[in-house]
Amino acid sequence: MRQVKIYPNSQALTDAAVQYFIQLGKRSIRERGRFSIALSGGSTPKGLYQSLCSPSNRSRLDWTAVHFFWGDERHVPPDHPGSNYRMVKEALLDCLTIPLGNVHRVLAEMSPEGAAFDYEEELREFFPDDWPRFDLILLGMGGDGHTASLFPQSEGLHEERRWFIANFAPKIGQWRLTLTKNAINAARNILVMVSGESKAGMLAKVLTGPEDSLEKPIKLISPTRGEMLWMVDEAAAVQLTQTGSYICSF
Ligand code: 6PG
Repeated sequence: MRQVKIYPNSQALTDAAVQYFIQLGKRSIRERGRFSIALSGGSTPKGLYQSLCSPSNRSRLDWTAVHFFWGDERHVPPDHPGSNYRMVKEALLDCLTIPLGNVHRVLAEMSPEGAAFDYEEELREFFPDDWPRFDLILLGMGGDGHTASLFPQSEGLHEERRWFIANFAPKIGQWRLTLTKNAINAARNILVMVSGESKAGMLAKVLTGPEDSLEKPIKLISPTRGEMLWMVDEAAAVQLTQTGSYICSF
């Protein structure tokens, strides 16, 4: 059963995501001494990073216990305008005091396969389990139903063994680097943030439409031993009807 929380606007959505992030972070640090997160690119998650950076919010978490990973990255250098690392650095990391070893950047300046194998090694060093058990994976949803860098009709949708791969996105003609569906689904908690009327049609199809995950890869995401929460604003939820999904409005 999917849990979908609907907020009046994108600011209310961001405010709720900040509370969720900080409460989950405190609980993870209390229970396991650390908070391991995989961050997403995109404008919706960026709003959360910027809000966490505010003096009132950033003082509420022990950031030295937080380990920052990326759920996906573009195949560009870290100073490129399209880099997810650069976006998170400018929106959040630059306002925090954290040990360098806590920032696990994808070396996207390497070859696509080289960067993917290197990052999978880094993940396997940090997570000694069969799959990477992140405390939280943040995801957005593209208008085409992609999430992370799992794009419609891309080869990466069929990967069953690896944790992190290079994935060519045919629709945009670019190499991307991404957690695989199985690696994402191993997380303790997954938060999907969706904002804006442009996503309304796809969100309704994803939450209530037929099973067509190769066309809408975010439908592949369903945690095997964890929780998944959708936080959406009313503009994105405008075509949602209460058909079997647990929906509560805020
Ligand atoms: C990326 C993201 C991508 C993003 C969605 C939603 O690297 O672009 O990981 O999956 O989350 O495209 O982005 P918006 O919130 O900007 O629509």
